[in-house]
Amino acid sequence: MIVAIDGPAGSGKGTIASMLAEYFGFKYVDSGLLYRKVAAASIWAPSVDLQDAIYSMDFSKDVLRSEEVGARASEIAGVPQIRSLVTELSRRCAQNIGPYAGVVMDGRDIGTVVFPGATCKIYLTASPEVRAKRRLAYINRHGSGTATYEEVYENILERDSRDSSREIAPLTISDDYVVIDTSNEIPKESFSRIKKIVENIL
Ligand code: CDP
Repeated sequence: MIVAIDGPAGSGKGTIASMLAEYFGFKYVDSGLLYRKVAAASIWAPSVDLQDAIYSMDFSKDVLRSEEVGARASEIAGVPQIRSLVTELSRRCAQNIGPYAGVVMDGRDIGTVVFPGATCKIYLTASPEVRAKRRLAYINRHGSGTATYEEVYENILERDSRDSSREIAPLTISDDYVVIDTSNEIPKESFSRIKKIVENIL
């Protein structure tokens, strides 16, 4: 069983996907992290091979989650060779699930391209203002930069537009997605709504 969670930056995908994975005993795969690893390598180790960037390079969580790496990830995510490599690795991650009963994978194209046959497809969204506030809170909490709200907000809009308008695997939905707007909810509330959706399918 595969639960696909797609949506724009700051919509809460990572938080909700981890909560679901823990609750259902599923493996959690963060596909964005794979793009972020390639992005970090392209900044600090540009001559490293793509696969090595993902498998062998060690960047700290704060570096990988930084705005700089996020913006670069959104740029390189439009490169066909990088997309097909990450898509293939994401599919492989879902094959080797060991003791887990299923997989929760989050990203931009999980239910449209990586697993079009996913059992359950959720599109998480929230207003750009709320998403920018969440990002800023994250940056302040982790001391990973000195961005202002305006900068983060602009960055979110730029990423939304790049992720939705690229030619390959843009951020989009099909009829079989359930759209959940998390703008006015705390994670626990969104989790409990999505948990019910997944339970109805199980
Ligand atoms: O955490 P956030 O939603 O900001 O980003 P992420 O999920 O870590 O992904 C970083 C970037 O990788 C996104 O802005 C996308 O451009 C790209 N990405 C993608 O194109 N396809 C995916 N399945 C996952 C991420």
